[in-house]
Amino acid sequence: MESSCKYPLQLSSVSEEYAAQYEESLKNPEQFWGHLARTRLRWIKEFDQVMDCDMNKGSFKWFQGGVINVSENCLDRHAERNPDKAALIWEKDEPGEQEVVSYSTLLDMTCQVANVLKKDGVKKGDRVAIYMPVSPLLVAAMLACARIGAIHSIVFGGFSAESLGSRIIDGSCSVVFTADQGVRGGKVIPLKQTVDEALKGCDCVRRVFVARRTGAKVPFTEGRDVWLDEAMSQESTVCPPEPLDSEDILFMLYTSGSTGKPKGIVHTQAGYLLYASMTQQYAFDFRSESDVFACVADIGWITGHSYVVYGPLCNGGTTVLFESHPIYPNPGRYWEMVERLKITHFYTAPTAIRLLIKYGDDWVTKYNRSTLRILGCVGEPLNREAWLWYNNVVGREKCTVVDTYWQTETGGITITPRPGPDNSPPKPGFPTRPFWGMEPALLSLENEVQHGPDVSGHLCFKRPWPGIARTIWGSHEAYLRIYFEPHPGYYFTGDGALRDKENDYRITGRVDDMLNSKGHRLGTAELECAMNHEPQVAETAVVGYPHEIFGEGIMAFVILKSDVEIKDKDIVGSLKELVKKKIAAFAIPTAFLVVPGLPKTRSGKIMRRVLRKIAADKASELGDVSTLADPSIVKQIVEIYKTKLIET
Ligand code: WTA
Repeated sequence: MESSCKYPLQLSSVSEEYAAQYEESLKNPEQFWGHLARTRLRWIKEFDQVMDCDMNKGSFKWFQGGVINVSENCLDRHAERNPDKAALIWEKDEPGEQEVVSYSTLLDMTCQVANVLKKDGVKKGDRVAIYMPVSPLLVAAMLACARIGAIHSIVFGGFSAESLGSRIIDGSCSVVFTADQGVRGGKVIPLKQTVDEALKGCDCVRRVFVARRTGAKVPFTEGRDVWLDEAMSQESTVCPPEPLDSEDILFMLYTSGSTGKPKGIVHTQAGYLLYASMTQQYAFDFRSESDVFACVADIGWITGHSYVVYGPLCNGGTTVLFESHPIYPNPGRYWEMVERLKITHFYTAPTAIRLLIKYGDDWVTKYNRSTLRILGCVGEPLNREAWLWYNNVVGREKCTVVDTYWQTETGGITITPRPGPDNSPPKPGFPTRPFWGMEPALLSLENEVQHGPDVSGHLCFKRPWPGIARTIWGSHEAYLRIYFEPHPGYYFTGDGALRDKENDYRITGRVDDMLNSKGHRLGTAELECAMNHEPQVAETAVVGYPHEIFGEGIMAFVILKSDVEIKDKDIVGSLKELVKKKIAAFAIPTAFLVVPGLPKTRSGKIMRRVLRKIAADKASELGDVSTLADPSIVKQIVEIYKTKLIET
């Protein structure tokens, strides 16, 4: 097909050019993506085929025949040209203690860690778990895995020993990276101790490398635990990058699903890297020569993988590693940091913005924010009030606010307003337009595509893109079932969306049993499974409800076994402990209701829509409940909600 665009492509956000290039990306994907992969990435051997993808079969192969190394793309090529350029600015927990790491130093560190792994016998394809604080050594550990072709599996430091252990076992990791302790918001996090507990149930791990963060004394297991700095000091700063196939696995990252068990989402080398770096550049108008990019997400989440590490480093930019907390030591932390580090791009979650609104504008306005150009956010809908505050107070109406929509599974941003001289005015609450190559489709429950403006439906993507996850570790069948079976021929996001009169997209929320609370994605089944371990509990049901700061609050309905007599607050206390132990403290429900029964259909299915209405304090909108096995239960639950709700 004839191309409507000129190559080499100068991708542009100017509306007319964007429209032509967007059309080109859909019409001639081979030429479009092939050109970008050739020009943006360094290949050891160039690929023979751009794409071999089948949406019906959930099969995706990009840049086949290509040989590449991600760490070489993120480090060597920049260190060659610009060795002293700042790759990382480590913003430690205490303000003013930042450390800058240049590209050449990061390359040296990475090679040393890679050599440590090699000496330890780690080979291509082996899985390495990382449970570390946000720090340059964490980045070096990731890139060291990439350098030798090992697969990293990062677990956020807020997860419990049990969560960590189950992820290590699921990936059969042989090596773990951790630190003596982490520090966040002035508090110490006992990382090594948690690893020790997690490993009690894992036979697969033979080595634990421990980085020194606080210098605390921590117990060591003979023959297993090694100080990372000591091991690195024995190693050379040179380690040739392993030639890897485009489709070799780069990493896996666990995310909540609609079953109780988190899924290890798998991303591969070239396609992921291309997509992360392209979106980082264009969704944020990032100019690598001079900009300072601060994505304040923890590296343990996909946002940290793509926009703290792989995207900015592949583009040769300077990226901030934020170890602290938005209100530590005070609610001015972000903006004081913006002034001190001369940050140009700031990327966070709506929940953090809503938290900061509460503390008033003075915490923002007393700092100089004139370097800021782009304000981004991700993770849940950015409500109008938060959008306006971000735009008007933080951005002084001089920055572009980009509300970016994407998922762990998409690898990078999929729907986003792009900054630049654009015709369309900003639209609070709307991620607006698809990124190049992305074709959103809204489908009805009956699989009918909803055409035209002013429609809503299940948000799907019609075409393959290089950053799409390739499988779920150990369960390709689940991958197909979750993402490709609900709407054959499409990738299904699990979200609902609407397209307005101007063809802009707005996300209306998950249509499955997933919650987005405090910027974290959680499965209701995962929470229920954890709480059902309590011997005095017969059953639990978890639903989300609108929460002023967290986006969604988590409400747990609890039914005790018939012979149990215990005070509500005591059972709630033990359920909170259980969630903390089995998942993480951040997953603890924000409200509990101990109820005599649940609204169930005659076939025994919980009618969650009824629980959601009650949790949202909208019992007057319950509608018809006559099909329930016991309709009278609804009245009882509503009464308990009014009088006995326990908020945590
Ligand atoms: C939600 C985070 C509304 C959505 C990168 C999605 C959003 C889930 C937005 C993925 C947004 C993400 N507006 N909702 N801009 N961005 N979401 O895997 O429900 O942790 O499916 O990836 O967050 O969460 P995940």
